[in-house]
Amino acid sequence: MGALIFFLQSFSPALVFEVVVFLLLFYFYFFIFCSNKHGQEPPGPKPLPLIGNLLQLDLKHLDKTFVELSKRYGSVFTVYMGPSKVVVLAGYQTVKEAFVNYAEEFGDREVPPVVKDANLDHGIAWANGDSWKEMRRFALANLKDFGMGKKACEDKIIEECQNLIQEFKKFKGEPFEMTQLMNYTISNIICSMVFGNRFDYDDPEFQMIVNETIKGFVLFESPAVKLYNFFPRIGKLLISARKQTVKIFEATNKQHLKLINCLRETLNPQMCRGVADAFMVRQQKVNLKESGLPNSLYHDANLLITVMNLFTGGTETSSSTLRWALLFMIKHPKIQDKVQEELNRVIGSRQAQLRDRKNLPFTNAVIHETQRLANIVPLALSHKTSQDVTFQGHFIEKGTTVIPLLTSVLHDEHEWEKPESFHPAHFLDKDGNFLKRDAFMVFSAGRRMCPGESLAKAELFIFFATLLQHFRFTPPPGVSEEDLDQTPTGGLILNPPPQKVCAVSQM
Ligand SMILES: *[C@@H]1O[C@H](CO)[C@@H](O)[C@H](O)[C@H]1NC(C)=O
Ligand SMILES: *[C@@H]1O[C@H](CO)[C@@H](O)[C@H](O)[C@H]1NC(C)=O
Repeated sequence: MGALIFFLQSFSPALVFEVVVFLLLFYFYFFIFCSNKHGQEPPGPKPLPLIGNLLQLDLKHLDKTFVELSKRYGSVFTVYMGPSKVVVLAGYQTVKEAFVNYAEEFGDREVPPVVKDANLDHGIAWANGDSWKEMRRFALANLKDFGMGKKACEDKIIEECQNLIQEFKKFKGEPFEMTQLMNYTISNIICSMVFGNRFDYDDPEFQMIVNETIKGFVLFESPAVKLYNFFPRIGKLLISARKQTVKIFEATNKQHLKLINCLRETLNPQMCRGVADAFMVRQQKVNLKESGLPNSLYHDANLLITVMNLFTGGTETSSSTLRWALLFMIKHPKIQDKVQEELNRVIGSRQAQLRDRKNLPFTNAVIHETQRLANIVPLALSHKTSQDVTFQGHFIEKGTTVIPLLTSVLHDEHEWEKPESFHPAHFLDKDGNFLKRDAFMVFSAGRRMCPGESLAKAELFIFFATLLQHFRFTPPPGVSEEDLDQTPTGGLILNPPPQKVCAVSQM
């Protein structure tokens, strides 16, 4: 006995640690290879214990790595992000079949640990089940009521665009960087719809809310937070980025809450100013009818997170797409010529309106081609299987994370003649009419499809057409078109790299 104690004491803590780690590795190895008892899971690269395929994945360009893997393993394959299994869907036919034909099975949202930690798993983007269904339904209906597809909304977009033009004019054709202005402008449109008013670009409260939202996004995408999401148990102890991210989200929450509380104090059920008001009126009704029922879905967490989701979803994406559109115009001056010729011929100098879109096939094709090539959300947000499913001969277990590889759809060689080039003819028939393309899946597909699609389309059209009526976009003096950088930055959302350009007034 004494000998045994002596024996144990002689181990250094480091050695004990190593043994524990070894056992853990063994456990995961065992777990990964023996968990496959239900049949043929999708093929994929062989995972290492614990870290899975992380060594084979370029986390900064995950979509590119996945495209490479799909060439080897086919359109449905498995990778292990650390210990968690992920099934990737590649190519237009496969993503469509999964999200449209198996909408229910593939329709849940995977909620990353950091999102849960920050209590963001309410509202629309990161929720599941009845609550998600109700919030999505509510948001869609109310976005319609407060604008989408209506004249009032179009007017707001036009007003905001006119403000942006005034800001651009202040630079008098000198080189400037437009990212921040574009962020503020686009945010303002969603602010109008959600809160019922716009803000001045130099309003510090407004700047704060936009800045914090963007900071949250950047951190969310940071390697440290990703690592935490892969290894939540260990990560909680080791990774301080998690704390930082949660803090930023809390700061953003607070800012939104402030706005919501202001609205609550001046709420008039007869005159809703925006989606937030409509939600609070609904809350009052529910409280009257079902007082004492704590389970109503119209609670404050759903209000706050729904508002945040709309704000976030409506800011980054359109701002980034518009900046890509202008960058592509600078890179391809002949295409810019053709757009301006068409605008000039069809609408001249009057304000562009949504009803002009059908008479501007080339401009419309350029906008679609921008969205396709820029591919700003290459992996969409991850889905999760809501039940066991057999798909294209593979067994996928309930609760498996599913990533739709939108890059492989928007750059699918079987669908696009020149997948990697800026080629507006993708969206034109031989007579120059606008041509709809099925594989244009920039808003994803199925029941998680972007609820802001029609708003985004309206914004892109009005802004792009109006800006090109007013300005010629060029590189700064001494810089050639080829020199302009179009290497995307970011991960969840691919942004054009910040750089100076010129907007030369032509009206
Ligand atoms: C604007 O938003 C983009 C994301 O769309 C972000 O990368 C960038 O840092 C933001 N810039 C400013 C100055 O707010
Ligand atoms: C928001 O970010 C921009 C650019 O990074 C900065 O110039 C501005 O001062 C920030 N505003 C606030 C209120 O934090």
